[in-house]
Amino acid sequence: MIIEQRIKNFERLGMGVFVHFGAYSVIGRGEWSKLSCQIPWEEYMKAVKSFNPDPCWAKELAATAKKAGARYITLTTRHHDGFSLYDTKGLNDYDAPHVCGRDLVAEFVKACRAEGIIPFFYHTLLDWHEEHYDSDFPTYLQYLRKSVELLCTNYGEIGGIWFDGKWNKPNEDWEEDALYSMIRSHQPEAMIINNTGMLDRGALGHIELDSVTFERGRPQPLNMTDSPKYIASEMCQVFGDHWGYAEMDLNFKSTAEIIRDLITCRRFGSNFLINVGPMGNGLLRPIEKASLEVLGQWVDVNGAILPAMPASIATNSEGSFILQNGDTYYLVCDHLSMAGDINVALAGGATDNTIHFCPGKKIAAMTWLDDNTAVDFQQDEDNTVTLTPKPFGYGRNLVVRVAKFTLA
Ligand code: GLC
Repeated sequence: MIIEQRIKNFERLGMGVFVHFGAYSVIGRGEWSKLSCQIPWEEYMKAVKSFNPDPCWAKELAATAKKAGARYITLTTRHHDGFSLYDTKGLNDYDAPHVCGRDLVAEFVKACRAEGIIPFFYHTLLDWHEEHYDSDFPTYLQYLRKSVELLCTNYGEIGGIWFDGKWNKPNEDWEEDALYSMIRSHQPEAMIINNTGMLDRGALGHIELDSVTFERGRPQPLNMTDSPKYIASEMCQVFGDHWGYAEMDLNFKSTAEIIRDLITCRRFGSNFLINVGPMGNGLLRPIEKASLEVLGQWVDVNGAILPAMPASIATNSEGSFILQNGDTYYLVCDHLSMAGDINVALAGGATDNTIHFCPGKKIAAMTWLDDNTAVDFQQDEDNTVTLTPKPFGYGRNLVVRVAKFTLA
């Protein structure tokens, strides 16, 4: 099996921020509003023409992603409405330079580089605006390749390209060979990802693809027995119900849910891509910004698990699992309570989740990442470890505790 370093590197990024931002953000009814809300083109174009994000939009985004502990950001450079945030250099005039005189992808890349964040580009395959999409597919594909080529040649080295929308014409010949080889020729280190959508999560596709996707799902271990190459996986998750800004979408996930999604991804060695949908002015909704910052508080303490991959040591409990990075192991424990008076803390801190696992050797040292205290455990003759994770002490609850250990 071929193992490519860029794919290994990608897996170890652990977490990224997904950003759905475009002219639809001005309308504030989600990225599908053109179709779902049946907005006529004439009216849609009014929103497009008014699109002129705050000069600090990209800086705020990159700084917030950094605070969250994310290592990369995947930005919708063109979504299904066909509008490009980048300079299409004459391919059409339906792009940011024509409406606001700015190349928003260039602004994004600059802001990412300033924060040490790797820029990835989402690019739609499905296009509601380009007439050839339905009338002359081969001509549309040429337009698509020329568009993507601009992204591969004008912004320096990028982390990858993330396609979406193939599911709209599953039986068409998308000429993937030509598309992917063009990307490789310009950006040999870029990841190439093609989202399979919610009906086909985790499906392997073209041999050039470097990661499978589990949109809004729960990653699963990949069966790579039939695959000639090693492939990564990534799960993207939406913060509310819409990817793009929807003013009346209040169905936000809690930070605890987001932390659990993150650890569920890492349990399977999958990357977690948490989405935000900036408002029409490009700035983040306060709740999204705050939520990412709170996530960052967790990552500040437990971020060592981000580059760690599943260890081959099983535990007996559904709520815990073990990751490994070099010689260091991480025991991740969920479903802990918080200790305190029974009138203050639910269950008063009583936990009933004794964990057993057998690392094969004696444990040299084991400490909780969140308070640096030693973990209380027993180890038998046969090296089986038994421990009952302590609940969070009164005054804190980090949702999921992580203990690090090394073997003798
Ligand atoms: C779906 C949607 C799209 C969104 C994507 C994110 O494919 O069509 O709006 O960009 O999911 O994964």
